[in-house]
Amino acid sequence: MDRAVQYRDLRDFLEQIDALGELKKVSGAHWDKEIGAITEMVYREQPVDAPALLFDEVGGYPKGYRCLYGMLASAKRFGLALGLDLEEHPSRMELLAAYRKRAKTFAPLPPRFVDSGPVQENVQEGDAIDLLTFPVPIHHELDGGRYIGTACGVITRDPDEGWVNVGTYRVQVLDGQNALSYISQGKQGRIQRDKYLKAGKPCPVAIVVGIDPLLYIAARFQVPLGVSEFDYAGGIAGEPLEVLTGTYTGLPIPANAEIVIEGEILPDRKQVEGPFGEWNGYYAGATKEEPVIQVKRVLYRNDPILTCAASQRPPHSHLFERSFIRSAGLWDKLELADCPSVRGVWMHEAGSGRTFNVVSIHQEYFGHARQAALLASQLPPAGYVNRFTVVVDDDIDPSNLYDVIWAMGTRCNPEGDLDILRKNWSSRLDPLVFGDELYNSRAIIDACIPYERRHDFPRVAQTSPAYKRLMKEKFGPLFDEILNRKG
Ligand SMILES: Cc1cc2nc3c(=O)[nH]c(=O)nc-3n(C[C@H](O)[C@H](O)[C@H](O)COP(=O)(O)O)c2cc1C
Repeated sequence: MDRAVQYRDLRDFLEQIDALGELKKVSGAHWDKEIGAITEMVYREQPVDAPALLFDEVGGYPKGYRCLYGMLASAKRFGLALGLDLEEHPSRMELLAAYRKRAKTFAPLPPRFVDSGPVQENVQEGDAIDLLTFPVPIHHELDGGRYIGTACGVITRDPDEGWVNVGTYRVQVLDGQNALSYISQGKQGRIQRDKYLKAGKPCPVAIVVGIDPLLYIAARFQVPLGVSEFDYAGGIAGEPLEVLTGTYTGLPIPANAEIVIEGEILPDRKQVEGPFGEWNGYYAGATKEEPVIQVKRVLYRNDPILTCAASQRPPHSHLFERSFIRSAGLWDKLELADCPSVRGVWMHEAGSGRTFNVVSIHQEYFGHARQAALLASQLPPAGYVNRFTVVVDDDIDPSNLYDVIWAMGTRCNPEGDLDILRKNWSSRLDPLVFGDELYNSRAIIDACIPYERRHDFPRVAQTSPAYKRLMKEKFGPLFDEILNRKG
């Protein structure tokens, strides 16, 4: 199989997005809250298609030691990362459909072991180890510390079955040689970690904190239990990822990574982790003790890039790809549940890709819309902590809030079209959850034209697609000029 993506590693990817005008370089901001605040302000100002931000000359650090935010936060960057052509799939729903098709057809490819790679350009061991060699940011005023791992990959191996997991779990620096990672219950890395710790043994871990786009996509995706994210990323690339064997841990380490930390998670030492701004924009999870990670080895490229993600009140710099990956997952699950004629799914960025979800269908029978709503409100990845599920007809783009709100305002009578579900699956991270009762209630909203009125519902006042095409043919450059687009 030929390589399906057109870049070799993160640096190559950055050069390509720079050429597309999708990367902005920022010099002189400080790691202590300035980088976090600037990123937040840029993404608030421009929630859709803001550029990736590459911070250099970060307060107190040498030039070249950089922090990257938002590497995948636009359709162009995400499409490039996956090797999907945006010309062929111009709308979000078309890109989503193409991604789902690819995800169904590729075969996982195990990594290829090599003897050397750029990540070995610099190695710290023993007393030379210092995690603060890198401009590790503190994002917000109330965060509990500097987080070296946010857009990262935490690599562990199952002690019984031998397979390797890579998960994006946050990593806080305690001091130059020690760190903490918060891995929530049920996550695959947590299951593996706890097997070692329960047996009183240290858990070998390698943490990639300068990660390439494909391994990052795989690390934050719930790849089926027993399948390694390395194989998944290789499958999407159409070529095995090149890895080295970690000298300390024996774990596979991406040879082209920017920065890798090898160490062990200790069974007998804990420290308080957090607080950290969560995905839903609150500090709802209290601080908790987590096992200490003792660092044994740090590898990094010359002029290393720390890949970062600041979670906060939306919008933020990793929402687009989050909504994209999760929406694809929910669409898949609806199909598996035999919900027919789903035309699109979007788990909205403003709902942090969880709390406000929209499904568009071509209505096939009485009750179809309610069936889709009920399923979408419970199936993974939406079933946990969501609040609103809206079902719309197939003339509505579920990712376009303008369209969705118009449909809700004209096709949904709350008296008959809104149902409340009680005692659903929530979390201590839900700011409305109080005490130990981890339930929430949620609404399903049927914003489809009533099925019985589908033939006599008022016609929509709008230009037809055929007439729009004609206008584009006749006045194409004019649109580009008016809308300030490159021709
Ligand atoms: C930027 C970012 C930060 C994340 N931080 C954490 C975290 O700190 N702890 C956690 O358990 N999951 C976190 N997640 C979610 C996991 O990465 C996600 O659930 C993934 O599927 C876990 O991998 P696994 O399926 O191998 O367990 C984060 C995701 C992203 C995108």
